[in-house]
Amino acid sequence: MNELLKAQGLTVRFGGLTAVSDVSFSLRQGEIVGLIGPNGAGKTTLFSSLVGLQRLSAGEIHLEGKPLHGRRPHVVARAGVTKTFQNTALFPGMTLLDNVMTAALLNNTVASAQELAHDCLERVGMAQAAQLVVDDLTFPQKALGEVARALATRPRILLLDEVMAALTPLEMDRVMDTLRELRDRTGLTMVVVEHHMRAIMNLSERILVLNFGKLIADGSPQQVSRNEKVIQAYLGSEHAQPA
Ligand SMILES: Nc1ncnc2c1ncn2[C@@H]1O[C@H](COP(=O)(O)OP(=O)(O)OP(=O)(O)O)[C@@H](O)[C@H]1O
Ligand SMILES: [Mg+2]
Repeated sequence: MNELLKAQGLTVRFGGLTAVSDVSFSLRQGEIVGLIGPNGAGKTTLFSSLVGLQRLSAGEIHLEGKPLHGRRPHVVARAGVTKTFQNTALFPGMTLLDNVMTAALLNNTVASAQELAHDCLERVGMAQAAQLVVDDLTFPQKALGEVARALATRPRILLLDEVMAALTPLEMDRVMDTLRELRDRTGLTMVVVEHHMRAIMNLSERILVLNFGKLIADGSPQQVSRNEKVIQAYLGSEHAQPA
């Protein structure tokens, strides 16, 4: 198996609270992995620690064997690990293209940033909306716009923190199809946080489950939805599939 990222013993403490507790997992190239768990389980904090925005109290992160822990966010971004921000939308009052440009300009000249931004919009099927002011976009368009903006940092691993939260189930299906196509075409590795169970179970090839900062399961959607600890902590018995 082609292991792209390896996280070992990741721990983040806020004073007396251990938000992420001794979490270890690995990501393979081109995988779509779901990250689930109750509110406050540590999902966003884990993402922040992976991209260098949150200092680790302990643990190590390696990307293709090279250490990433302790590196500054821009160094991690350049190495290819990017996350979207929970509850932050695209910049209002600007066109979609300009939004994607803000990220594309980080490491590019204006001319090549423009080309890159167009390319990123195309990759999520949003090229036709490039000149629309983001305030006029539908929720699924906004979600895909956020993905496009994140793509402009040229990630190899993209961490998506509830980008589909505002969508109806039908809209989620469309966005998930686009994410899957993106992966199929580019080999992008994704970790997706989403509270909508049917959506995340359908999209993901593997699911990680956090509860009180601890990784309590790591397996296929089928394995995880039958896992007694996961059912008790998060899913409730109505989500469990018959054995
Ligand atoms: N900067 C911080 N300082 C102190 N405590 C924090 C900080 N950030 C998060 N926490 C706490 O860490 C725990 C994990 O929070 P986190 O936001 O990572 O959870 P989450 O799984 O993303 O939850 P949600 O599903 O609601 O987004 C929570 O108890 C939260 O209150
Ligand atoms: Mg969160």
